[in-house]
This record gives sequence, structure tokens and C-alpha cells, in this order.
Amino acid sequence: MDVADQIRQIYERLPYPRLEGSSMRTPRWQLAPMDWITTMWQPAKPAPSRVLVAGCGTGAEAFALRRKFPNADIMAVDFSRHSIDLALASQRRLEPARKIRFVVGDLAGRHFAKKIGCGFDFITCHGVLSYIPNSARALANLARSLTPDGALYLGVNGAAHFSVAWRRVLPNFGYNLHRFEDGIRLRRLLALFDALVGHRKRFIAKQDAAFLAGDLFGALNRALPLANWNRIARRSGLHCRGNFAALSVLRPALNDNSCALLMPRTRVEVAELLDRLCPTYFLRLVYTRTAPSNPPWHKAGELMDWLPQLTPLYVHRWPKRKTASNQLPRVEFRSGSINTLVEMRVPGWELEILRRSNGKHSLRQILDTLPARPPGKILRSQLYVLHQFAVLNLLPPRPDRGIVPC
Ligand SMILES: C[S@@+](CC[C@H](N)C(=O)[O-])C[C@H]1O[C@@H](n2cnc3c(N)ncnc32)[C@H](O)[C@@H]1O
Repeated sequence: MDVADQIRQIYERLPYPRLEGSSMRTPRWQLAPMDWITTMWQPAKPAPSRVLVAGCGTGAEAFALRRKFPNADIMAVDFSRHSIDLALASQRRLEPARKIRFVVGDLAGRHFAKKIGCGFDFITCHGVLSYIPNSARALANLARSLTPDGALYLGVNGAAHFSVAWRRVLPNFGYNLHRFEDGIRLRRLLALFDALVGHRKRFIAKQDAAFLAGDLFGALNRALPLANWNRIARRSGLHCRGNFAALSVLRPALNDNSCALLMPRTRVEVAELLDRLCPTYFLRLVYTRTAPSNPPWHKAGELMDWLPQLTPLYVHRWPKRKTASNQLPRVEFRSGSINTLVEMRVPGWELEILRRSNGKHSLRQILDTLPARPPGKILRSQLYVLHQFAVLNLLPPRPDRGIVPC
């Protein structure tokens, strides 16, 4: 039996996620917040109209997306018939109104695009690709099913995934990684590993059998650094836009302004660097078919033609009254999605840029309205920091964009 068949058998025997009480309403999986995905993706439309859930398991992910996008046409595919049957049964019981099309299909299959179709503007593939032997083919299939301006959200195991070390150790205790057999001895051993590596509350030992069978045992568990996933994706025609974990790893660099030292690296280069310094357990990534347009940080003149735009990730608060003349104005950026509050004292010129960052005015146009120009180097490094923290996106100048005069 080949590796893909062995993986399929696991999910036929133990479909994931296990259906219990409220699991359809409160799924244990966590998609990255949609406002972060939108910030990285920069879609033309406010909400996707065709969504594909690739590797949907028993359906929790698809039902959650239905609640997020009530008007979208949603299709969900998995190669485990048992999982699809359970998803359909849940749909009949819980969500009979706006149907999701549940389909049996192999993401790495040769005729995937023919079977599933094209033209999806948002695809999610969460906790699946790490278990597909031919992950490049699966990614190429997903890329083909995506619209040219659509986005793929991918959740995959990172280099710090617990399974990397635990799979090395389990055979020493007589366990065969290809045969998951639950029992008291295994649970006690996992609880010991939890304690030894500093996991709290028997984090792994208390997981249900469906999780352990696929995420720890099983014929394949690919847990790679971000740079490796990006390499595979590039070969399949997909470009990384961001890693959700990068923002929290970068957060301390905001307090002492050291983030500007990373200039002129792009968001993805910074994300790969951070993942090397501080490897991630589970990567939440956004890919698109079009390469991101990266601002020319080292070409001051060209940068001035780019258009700053505040992202939906933060709610901002500008200073209310005129700030005392000896104090810089204080701005506040709050994001529930990344659980972050950023307070900054910024010079007047920076406040004006922020206020007018609506994606319609170029930096040059905004600066032309100010009484004095800030020093170029300081301007660039401040913009770079705001861009890395996803407060601002910088849109490339386009003749057809119709720039509005300030
Ligand atoms: C860990 S579960 C994740 C389910 C769901 N995405 C979630 O997060 O709740 C992995 C799912 O991927 C499916 N899967 C694995 N390889 C696949 C393939 N080549 N084609 C389609 N589905 C696949 C399995 O059957 C299983 O249901």
C-alpha cells in the first residue's frame, strides 16, 4: 500500500475532527484571522464569492466558512469517503439551508481541476498538506483552481512541530509510527513527554485519537521551515504573502525601533528570517498566483510614487485635541485579531501620512501638502516599520489607478 493510501486509511478509521457535541459550532482548528488574510492578500472584492475547502475532513472548517461568508458558493473536498459522509450527515442535521457541496476527491490527483473545477477566489487547506506525499502536485492543483487574483490560505506543520522530535523517540519505546494503537501506556508516555518538554496540562497526551493518529503517528508528517514550504509553493506557481506568526515574533522590535534594521527585506524575506531564528510550530500562510509588489525601499525617488493604505488589521485612533507643543502626537493601533495594542508618538508629518493613507494618494502627493519635508532616511525607515507591522500596505503606482489629487 502506498503512503497516500496509508494516510487515507487513517482518516477512514478515525475521521477528523471527531464529531462530538458542539464541535461543529466551535471547531478546534483555527484559521488565521480573516482581516490578517485580507491584509496580506489585498483582494479586489470585500468577500470571496467561490470558496474551496481542500481536505475538509468531517466538515467543521467548511461550516465555519459558511458562517463567515453566508453568500459564497462553497465546495469542500476530501479523499476520505467516511469523512465526507459524516460532513453530509452534519449538513442535513445542522446547516440544511445554504448547502455546501461536499465531494470525494484527491488533492494530489491527476484530474483534480477537471473534477473540482476552477475559478475559486479563496481556498483554504488547513492541516492537510503535511500528510500528502506529492505536496507539490497538490499545490499545483490548488493553484490551477484559484482565480488569478484569488488567495490560498495554507496551514502546515512548521519546523518546531512537536512531532519532529517525538517521532524520533517513540520507536525507542517500541511504537511503530505506521500503526497507531491507543492505550493507557501510550497516554502515560505522552504525558511524560509533555512534562519533559514543558507543555502545560498534558497538551498532547489529552488530544483525541483522531489527532494523534494523523499528527503524531502515520506514514508521513512533513514539518518544514517556512522557506522550504515557500520553495515547494513557488515551483507550483504560488507566491507567499505572509506568515501569521511573524507579527508576534517581530512585536518586541517595535518597542526599540530596531525593526528598521531589517530594511530592505520584503515581508516574506523577513518572515523566513524570523522562522529561522524562532521556528514555528504551525504555519498559517497566505499565497497568491501573482507575486507581491514590494516597495523599492532603497530607491527614494521611486518610493515616493507608491500609495500608502491603512490595512483592515488595526483599528486606529488619532490624537483628539491639539497635542501640547513639546510633545509628539500619540497614535494608537489596536488589533483584536493579533491581540495587539501599538501606541506610538509620531512626528506631525507621519501623522499626516497615516491620516491620508487611503490608497488613493501617492507619498509624494501627501508630502507636497506638508509645510516641510521630513528627512528621507527617517521617512523610509518609519514607513518600513509600519509596512512590516502590517499597519500600512504600499500600493504600486499604476497609470490606470486614477490617483486622486490631495
Ligand atoms: C487533519 S485533517 C484536517 C481536516 C480539516 N481541514 C480541519 O482542519 O478540520 C486532514 C484531512 O486531510 C484529508 N486528506 C489528506 N490527504 C488528502 C488528499 N491527498 N486529498 C484529499 N484529502 C486529503 C484527510 O482525509 C483528512 O480529512
